Amino acid sequence: MNYGQLGWGKLNRLAQIFRPDSAGNAHTVMLAMDHPYFYGPTTGLEDPRRTITPLVPYADAISPAKGTLEYCLDPLVPTPVILRVTGGNSMTRREELSDEHIITSVEEAVRLNAVGVSVSVYIDTEHQAQTIRSLGKLANECSQCGLLVLGITAVGAKLEPMVKGEGEGSADFDAAKYFAHAGRIIQENGANIVKTYFVDNWEQVRDGIQVPIVIAGGKKIPEREALEFTAQAIAAGAEGVDMGRNIFQSEDPVAMIQAVRSVVHEGRSADDAFVLFNELQGAAG
Ligand code: 5RP
Repeated sequence: MNYGQLGWGKLNRLAQIFRPDSAGNAHTVMLAMDHPYFYGPTTGLEDPRRTITPLVPYADAISPAKGTLEYCLDPLVPTPVILRVTGGNSMTRREELSDEHIITSVEEAVRLNAVGVSVSVYIDTEHQAQTIRSLGKLANECSQCGLLVLGITAVGAKLEPMVKGEGEGSADFDAAKYFAHAGRIIQENGANIVKTYFVDNWEQVRDGIQVPIVIAGGKKIPEREALEFTAQAIAAGAEGVDMGRNIFQSEDPVAMIQAVRSVVHEGRSADDAFVLFNELQGAAG
């Protein structure tokens, strides 16, 4: 993993979330649970105390917004927190999704003992400049206190169908080129970790970004398929995942997070991890 020339505080915080395997390669399984900041009570997160509490011991880091953190999660469980600090939007106005601002201060993140903050950046949208400026401002403030910045490549309403290959003109949309472009801009404006999506020709994305990359899970898909893209991303050089719905909306979230860990940390194939998922499901039943 490329740690760059970071100071002791940031390096120590990175080491808390990227855990080395037996060969010394550092990877992470972050559990994304920030969805309610713009989705409201997302399926599986209606009451995170029920669904998330059993998953936290298996996560290398968790990424909630402060409402879930303060009211639903046990402060005595020491899993590192990457706090979602941008928002101000809602799924009820999809056309305004990219209109995000900083809603939680770095001081608040420090008070909540976060190791880092996460910020969405909406490249090629109406609010591109505003979200890049938010990233830059947070990066400067986080450097003052050694907090990490995780920059999220957010696609917004316009680009979402293109990324899924569904929108008009999507056949001509080069997703790898877009994510390489967006991810590098996020790195250059101060992110220490880039969150992006796994797409065809992903090597182009990896090649253009030098900070550690974590892969977003996206919409819930069958467990076998989620394990497959995770395995492909790790093989192609991603340092881990920041996965939400494909874990907490799984038929068996505790089995699924362990199967994902086996791919990310043990290098299991998707087939082997799916066997593990089924065994763990059986064991629980
Ligand atoms: C939006 C996000 C999400 O809030 C979330 O973290 C994504 O997780 P998943 O797609 O795995 O459910 O990053 O930009």
